[in-house]
Amino acid sequence: MSTETNPPKRVTTRTLQAMRDRGQAITMLTAYDFPTAKLLDEAGIDVLLVGDSLAMVVQGHDTTLPVTMDQMIYHAEMVGRASQRAMVVVDLPFPEGQIEITRSIEASARVLKETRCHAVKLEGGAEQAGRIEAIVTAGVPVMAHVGLRPQNIHVDGGYRLQRDTEKLVSDAKAAEEAGAFAVLIECVPASVATAITAAVKVPTIGIGAGRDVSGQVLVTHDIVGLTSGYTPKFTRQFADLGKGMRDAAKEYLEQVRSGGFPSDQESF
Ligand code: KIV
Repeated sequence: MSTETNPPKRVTTRTLQAMRDRGQAITMLTAYDFPTAKLLDEAGIDVLLVGDSLAMVVQGHDTTLPVTMDQMIYHAEMVGRASQRAMVVVDLPFPEGQIEITRSIEASARVLKETRCHAVKLEGGAEQAGRIEAIVTAGVPVMAHVGLRPQNIHVDGGYRLQRDTEKLVSDAKAAEEAGAFAVLIECVPASVATAITAAVKVPTIGIGAGRDVSGQVLVTHDIVGLTSGYTPKFTRQFADLGKGMRDAAKEYLEQVRSGGFPSDQESF
């Protein structure tokens, strides 16, 4: 008898659409490296996002703007290799989603060709419809990102709750019509997300958008207590790994200083 187990069935755009259609909540979290992606995949998270938030969370910048396409590819390759079941979506970092459409297509194609990941995420709605259509036509699934757009921070003058229901609904509809397989909605009143979700047939994934969406996404480092300083109102800390790491480092330090580590059993 073979002891090999079959790899789990991969989540695809079709899986997500079917989940949305039967009202089953979609779960999505960020991942930037192999061990984290493996743990989240094993936990059963449906979608892993290699977000450009890695500029802030991992690289320590104060906005998402500095991370480069090469750096996204470097992280995406680790996440793509670690994931067995989750669909992996990779952010197009600034300005790959703002400049010539051909460059966006090239950047998106690199994600599929070099990282084993499955889709890209692009900030913007109606004004990005042509770009979304071109990327999808080239064979790369696109998740649109409407509402608060972190790459637009300097135009918006900060990270602000987005309240314009009419504009946001038309952004989401334009993205859907252009071929986006899902729409991520960031930082809007719950009533706005409700209106968007009712207006489109593709899954909506909310962050700071209330409950009336097809799924939720958060930044993993926030939910496990690995970010320090400000965390947004919409996140929730489910564990305190920061404390666990600090305590482990202190214990190691004490053991090394007191001669308790390494023991005879830990030596050759
Ligand atoms: O970059 C990111 O992690 C994101 C999430 C905040 C949705 O876009």
